[in-house]
Parts: sequence; structure tokens; C-alpha cells
Amino acid sequence: MNPSKLVSRLIAAAVSAQKNAYCPYSRYPVGAAVLTESGRIFAGCNVENASYGLSLCAERVAIFSAIARKQLGLKAVCVVANSARPCGACRQVMFEFSTRDTELYLVDLNPRTRRQKVRRTYVHKMLPEAFDPLSSGLLPAHPQNLIKARSSISAKRPKARRK
Ligand code: THU
Repeated sequence: MNPSKLVSRLIAAAVSAQKNAYCPYSRYPVGAAVLTESGRIFAGCNVENASYGLSLCAERVAIFSAIARKQLGLKAVCVVANSARPCGACRQVMFEFSTRDTELYLVDLNPRTRRQKVRRTYVHKMLPEAFDPLSSGLLPAHPQNLIKARSSISAKRPKARRK
């Protein structure tokens, strides 16, 4: 697939998800979408709660739904808001599943005119000196490779015989 077409699809998914934001407290709708290594797109919106601290950002909703489908490698992330800037917590969560090539599209969408301003950058640039699962020694390999290794181990293991 044409890469610019993929980016348009990613942005469209985030714009569409923004419409589902549940944000009656902040009235600040955010949409996000991620493109995974396998070429799939997962979207999310912010979900708030009367107990404010339980609210979840759009980026984490999108990333966690990819993880829930075992899609651990992010090729690109897109965030759409009036002024799209991922919070610090989301930058750290993005970093966990990104490589130095993971692109980040920040789309400022004017809610009145619907005009879009797109900025392209990289996840790793948004969080210098991140707490890194690899250099901290907490993980021996990128999460995506760990999952691959684990599933090949379980594929090789002979099935337990039924008693
Ligand atoms: N929000 C996001 O969804 N993503 C961000 O990166 C920044 C903030 C949400 C959280 C809350 O629902 C609303 O925007 C206002 O902070």
C-alpha cells in the first residue's frame, strides 16, 4: 500500500475516534490511532470519569486495544485534538512499544473550521532520556520480539497428553 494513503487512513481513523470521546468534564475531545507492524490500525478516544483520576487518554486507549490483539509493534501513532500534544504518561507508554523509526503525527484540528494542521515527528523525539525497558535491563528485548519468541517456544512445545 502507498505510504501516504496509509497515513491518510491513520489520520482519518483518529479524526473519527475523536467524535466518540467521552469528555463531559473537560470538554476536550481527543482522538488517536496507531498503525502496527502488521499494517493494522487501532483507534481510541479519551474516556473520562466522575472520579477524574480514572480518566484515560485517547493514545493509551488506542495503544492498549492494539496490545489486546497482540499487536505490540508501533509503526506510527496519530493524535488529533484542538492542540495535539501527548501527555507525559502517554509518551512513556508509546515509547514502550516504539522503535527509533516510529512516526508520530500530531494533528491540530480546529473544531470550528475543521481545518487540520499536521506535524510529523518521531515518538523517541518526544521523550528524551525516556525510562527505557531495554537500557534499564528490565527487558532483554523489545516487547514485540519477546512475544514472538514466546509464541515460537509454545508452538514448538509438544502438546500435553490427555490423561
Ligand atoms: N487527553 C488525551 O486524551 N490525550 C492527551 O495526550 C492529553 C489529554 C485528554 C485527557 C482528558 O480527558 C482531556 O484530554 C483533558 O485533559
